[in-house]
Amino acid sequence: MCPSLATIYISILVLALFSQFSRASAVEVNQAQVPPRTDFGSVACKQTIFEHSFTSSYGVPYVGTYSPPGNCTFTTTIFNISVTSKGRQYDRLALLFFGDTEIWRTSTAMPSEEGIYWSYQKDMTVFDPLLRTEQKVIFDLSNVYTDLYTGAFDVTLEALYYNDRYVSGLTPPDHIYPISALASSQNISSVMSLPDDNGTVSLILPGNVKTATVSMLASGNSAEEFWYTNVPSEYANTFPDNPGWLYGYSPFREIQLLIDGQLAGVSWPFPLLFTGGVDPGLWRPIVGIDAYDLPTFEIDVTPWLPLLCDGKAHNFGLKVVGFDNSVDGKLGTVGENWWVTGAVFIWLDEKSNQTTGGNISSSISPPTFSYHPTVTSITNNNVTTNTSFYFSLAAHRKLSIFSTIHTSTGPKLASWTQDLSFSNIQNMTNLAYNQSLSMITTGSFSSSLSPIRTTYSYPLNLYSFYVIASTTSTLSSVFALIDRSLITKGINLLSLLTGLKVGSESLATRQFGESQYYWNETIVEGTAADTGVTDQWFSFSGTPGLKKNGVKEYSRHLKEVDDAMVLDDEKWESMVVPKTEALPYVEGEPVV
Ligand SMILES: *[C@@H]1O[C@H](CO)[C@@H](O)[C@H](O)[C@H]1NC(C)=O
Ligand SMILES: *[C@@H]1O[C@H](CO)[C@@H](O)[C@H](O)[C@H]1NC(C)=O
Ligand SMILES: *[C@@H]1O[C@H](CO)[C@@H](O)[C@H](O)[C@H]1NC(C)=O
Ligand SMILES: *[C@@H]1O[C@H](CO)[C@@H](O)[C@H](O)[C@H]1NC(C)=O
Ligand SMILES: *[C@@H]1O[C@H](CO)[C@@H](O)[C@H](O)[C@H]1NC(C)=O
Ligand SMILES: *[C@@H]1O[C@H](CO)[C@@H](O)[C@H](O)[C@H]1NC(C)=O
Ligand SMILES: *[C@@H]1O[C@H](CO)[C@@H](O)[C@H](O)[C@H]1NC(C)=O
Ligand SMILES: *[C@@H]1O[C@H](CO)[C@@H](O)[C@H](O)[C@H]1NC(C)=O
Ligand SMILES: *[C@@H]1O[C@H](CO)[C@@H](O)[C@H](O)[C@H]1NC(C)=O
Ligand SMILES: *[C@@H]1O[C@H](CO)[C@@H](O)[C@H](O)[C@H]1NC(C)=O
Ligand SMILES: *[C@@H]1O[C@H](CO)[C@@H](O)[C@H](O)[C@H]1NC(C)=O
Repeated sequence: MCPSLATIYISILVLALFSQFSRASAVEVNQAQVPPRTDFGSVACKQTIFEHSFTSSYGVPYVGTYSPPGNCTFTTTIFNISVTSKGRQYDRLALLFFGDTEIWRTSTAMPSEEGIYWSYQKDMTVFDPLLRTEQKVIFDLSNVYTDLYTGAFDVTLEALYYNDRYVSGLTPPDHIYPISALASSQNISSVMSLPDDNGTVSLILPGNVKTATVSMLASGNSAEEFWYTNVPSEYANTFPDNPGWLYGYSPFREIQLLIDGQLAGVSWPFPLLFTGGVDPGLWRPIVGIDAYDLPTFEIDVTPWLPLLCDGKAHNFGLKVVGFDNSVDGKLGTVGENWWVTGAVFIWLDEKSNQTTGGNISSSISPPTFSYHPTVTSITNNNVTTNTSFYFSLAAHRKLSIFSTIHTSTGPKLASWTQDLSFSNIQNMTNLAYNQSLSMITTGSFSSSLSPIRTTYSYPLNLYSFYVIASTTSTLSSVFALIDRSLITKGINLLSLLTGLKVGSESLATRQFGESQYYWNETIVEGTAADTGVTDQWFSFSGTPGLKKNGVKEYSRHLKEVDDAMVLDDEKWESMVVPKTEALPYVEGEPVV
C-alpha cells in the first residue's frame, strides 16, 4: 500500500524535528587556538575543497583535486575544516597532503552517541606556491566502521582567500620540496613510518637559493603514543604480573634532521595528548593542546647552502631516537611507530645564478644524560615482588652550525643554534597501574635569519590510577590528574620569512584537569557516572604582518565540568596564565 501524501509530509516533519534535536544535543568540542585573523568576513573568494564521509576508510584516503580559485586576487589563504560525528568511535588521526607534501595533521575529537562537531581554521599562506597550482588532495583519516564502531566522520574542508596587505609585503617561499614517502601517484598518504621506513629523500636544489628552512612533523602511535611515559627498555618487565603495560625505549625522544647523514638540527617534541589519551574524560569538550593542528618544528638550513647549491643530489633524512643505556652515546632506536614527514622551503636569489660559500662548521655536543633508576621490592615467604619503580632521566644538548654564504648581496654569516634540556621523573606502584610523571622540556633556538631568540617550555605533570576489568561484564576505570603548559616566546621562522609575522610573539597556555572515567572494554565508551573538571587558560600577544585584521592580543579561559562547558571567556587582550604546579604522589621537582 502506498503511504498517503499526509503521511509522507509528517515523516519529513518528524525527520526535520529529529535532526534539529540531534544537532542541538550534539556537543561542540573545542581547541583553544590563536584565531588566524580578527575577522573572517570580506573574503576575496572561497571554495569547498572536499566533503567526504569517512566510514570504513582504513588505508583508503579521500583522493581529489584542488584547483586554485579562478579570477581571484588573493594573498592570504585560510583553511576551515569542519567535522561532525555521531556514534561509538575512537579518536582518529588525519593527514592532509597536497601531492607528496603534508600540509596539516589533525586528530579528531573522540565521538559520542549524542554526537560531536567542531571547526578549526588554519592559516595556509606559507604553502602559497602549492595553493596556486593544481594539486592532488589526499586526506587520510583511517577509520573503522562496524556494528561496534558506529561513528563515521563527516568532513568538510573549505578554503577562504583574502586579498590582504602586509606591513613588509608578503614573501612566500618559491618552492616547497617534500621529505616523505613520495607515494601520491598511488593515491595513498606519503607519511613515513619510523623506525621501519628509510625516512630519507634525495633532492637537487636550484643553484641560487638564498634561504632554506626545513619543517618537520612527527607524532607517535601505538607503543609510542605515550612515549613520555615509556620506561628504559631494561625496566619494561619490572611488573611481570602486568605484562605489556610498560613500553620501552625510555621517555626521551629526539627527532633528527640529517643532511647527507650529518646532523642539521633536532626537535625534542611537545608531549601531545590525543582526545582518547590517558583519560578520555579529560578532553571533552576541551581537547588537548594542539590536538587539531599538530605542531611542526622548523630548522634553518641556510648554513648548508654552500653544499646544497652545488647542483648535485643531497639526502634529507628524518630519524627518531630514544635513550638507550646499553649503547655507546646512549642514543638508540624507538618502538613502533612514529609517523614523520618534512618539507624544505626555499627562497631564491633573483639577482644571482649561484650561491656559494665557505666551509660549513659545526659545534655539536652529543646529548648528556643523567639517569637514576630504583626498583623497590618485598620478599614474602621466599617470593620476591617488585612494589615500585622510580626513575629520573635528564638530558641536555647544544648544537650550532654556521658558514659564510655568498649571494647577490655579498657575503654573510649564516648560523643555526639550539640549546635543549629535558627532565622526566616517573614513579610507578601497584604494578604500574598507579603512575605519576613529572616532566619538563625546555629549549631555545636562534638563527641568523632573525634577531629574535626563541625559547619554549613544556612542563607536564600527570597522575593516573587504572583499574582494568578482568571481564567485559564489569567496567574499567581511570582516575587522572593533569597539569601541563605550553609556553613559547620568540618567532616561527616560516611566518617571519613569509611576512605573516614581523616581530616577537608570546603564547602561554595551561590545562589543569581531574577526571574519573569508566569504560566498557568491549565497546570502549564512557558512562554517565564519569565526572571531571578541566580548566584551560590561553593567552597570546604578537606582532602581526597583516595591515588589517591581524591578532595582536588574544586570550581565552575555558572550563568544563562533567563533559559540559561551563565557562568560555574570550577576549582580544592577553591575560595572566597561572603556572603549572607539581601534583601529589611524586617526590622531587624536575630540574633542568
Ligand atoms: C573577474 O572578476 C571581475 C570582478 O568580479 C569581473 O568583473 C569579471 O567579469 C571576471 N572575469 C571573468 C573572466 O570571470
Ligand atoms: C567553517 O565552516 C563551518 C561549517 O560550514 C561554518 O559554520 C563556519 O562559520 C566556518 N568558519 C569560517 C571562519 O568561515
Ligand atoms: C587515483 O585517483 C584518481 C581519482 O580518484 C583516479 O582517477 C586514478 O585512477 C587513481 N590512480 C590510481 C593509481 O589508483
Ligand atoms: C635511505 O635512502 C637513501 C636515499 O635514497 C639511501 O642513500 C640510503 O642508503 C638508504 N638507507 C637505508 C638504510 O636504506
Ligand atoms: C623486578 O624488576 C627488575 C627490573 O625490571 C626485573 O629484572 C626483575 O625480574 C623484577 N623482579 C620480579 C620478581 O618481578
Ligand atoms: C644567469 O644565467 C643566465 C644564463 O646563463 C645569464 O644570461 C644571466 O646573465 C645570469 N645572471 C646573473 C645575475 O649572473
Ligand atoms: C675549508 O676546509 C678545507 C678542508 O678541510 C681546508 O683546507 C680549508 O682551509 C677550509 N677553508 C676555510 C676558509 O676555512
Ligand atoms: C628460598 O629459595 C631458595 C632458592 O630457590 C632456596 O634455596 C631456599 O631453600 C628457599 N628458602 C626457604 C626458606 O624456602
Ligand atoms: C593507587 O592510587 C589510588 C588512588 O590515588 C590510591 O588510593 C592507592 O593507595 C594507590 N596505590 C598504591 C599502591 O600506590
Ligand atoms: C559492555 O558492552 C557489551 C556490548 O554492548 C555488553 O554486552 C556488556 O554487558 C557491557 N558491559 C558493561 C559492564 O556494561
Ligand atoms: C611513589 O609513589 C608512592 C605511592 O604514591 C609513594 O608512597 C612514594 O613516596 C613515591 N616515591 C617517590 C620516590 O616519589
